[in-house]
Formats: sequence, C-alpha cells, structure tokens
Amino acid sequence: MSVSLPRILLPAALGLALVGCGGPADPDSPEGKRQAVFKQFLQHSEPMGGMLSGRVPFDGEALAGHAEGLAELVEAPWDYFPEPGDSRQRNAALPDIWQQPDAWQQAIADYRQAVADLLAVTREGVDSPEQVAAPVAAVQQGCKGCHDGFRR
Ligand code: HEC
Repeated sequence: MSVSLPRILLPAALGLALVGCGGPADPDSPEGKRQAVFKQFLQHSEPMGGMLSGRVPFDGEALAGHAEGLAELVEAPWDYFPEPGDSRQRNAALPDIWQQPDAWQQAIADYRQAVADLLAVTREGVDSPEQVAAPVAAVQQGCKGCHDGFRR
C-alpha cells in the first residue's frame, strides 16, 4: 500500500493541475501582453537583486542599465488590464484590480515613484552596492506590495 498509493494519487493530482491551468495565455490577448511585460520587469529586477545579495557579481554599469530598462517599461502593463469580461485566458489577476481602482492606481503610483527614485540615483553613476541598496529594495517592495494585494 505504501508503494501503490502515490502511484494512484499522482495522476489524479496532475489531472487537477492541468484543469486549473489550461495552457499559457494567447500572446495577443491583454493577459498575454501584460504577462510578457511583467516577465521583462523580472529580467531587470532579478539581476539587480542578485547583485545586491552577492549571488551575481556587482556591476554598477549593468545595474544602471537595468534601472533604465525598468523605467522604459514602467507604464507598459497597465493598459492591458481591461475589465476581464468573459475572458478565459490564464491569468493571476485578482478582481480587486477592478473593484478597488483607487488602490490599484495607488500601487501603480508607488511603483512608478520607486523606479523614478532608483533612476535618479543610478544616473549619478553606481560605484557600490551601498549606494543603490535602499532604492532597489524600494522597487522590489513596489513589486511585492502590488502582488500581495492584486495577484493570486
Ligand atoms: C501595480 C501592480 C504591479 C506591480 C507594480 C508589479 N506587478 Fe507583477 N503582476 C501584477 C499582476 C496583477 C500580475 C498578474 C497578471 C496576470 O496574470 O495576467 C503580475 C504578474 C507578474 C509576473 C508573472 C507573469 C506571467 O508570466 O504570468 C511576474 C514575473 C511579475 N509580475 C513580476 C513583477 C516584477 C519583477 C515587478 C517589479 C519590478 C512587478 N511584477 C510589479 C501586478 C504588479
């Protein structure tokens, strides 16, 4: 029994996971477009976090480049949040986005400000992790603060 039980349960668990997922969002849908932008957000914020935690060698110029990258994308996802209607695209957006539009706009504004603050620092030239630790942490908090409230 101790051997056969997992064999029975595993396919059932996988089946459930597939029903819940339903494949990636259509890349031309609003969901697919915003998710693609968020992936780019991550491609900039991840290496910055890595440099500050010591996981990736520190490179001030590269870090400044990632700050520029985030700044270029800072307005990119928000137009791709139309009322979901009967969309069946895979997504992790919470209904609070549409039910609490002021809080949603505030989360966007906080993030926008954090990115602008980081950019103001990195444009002066980045020589040390200490210089950028606080503004990078504020950007990461901007991501997390929004995800906590508005992402499943
Ligand atoms: C104002 C809100 C907000 C901010 C700020 C925000 N996100 Fe998100 N993020 C979301 C929402 C909502 C989703 C879910 C979108 C969906 O599933 O369609 C999401 C999804 C994602 C995803 C998953 C994309 C996918 O492939 O499904 C990643 C990765 C991500 N965000 C990274 C980031 C990073 C990194 C930052 C900061 C640099 C950030 N986000 C800032 C709201 C935000």
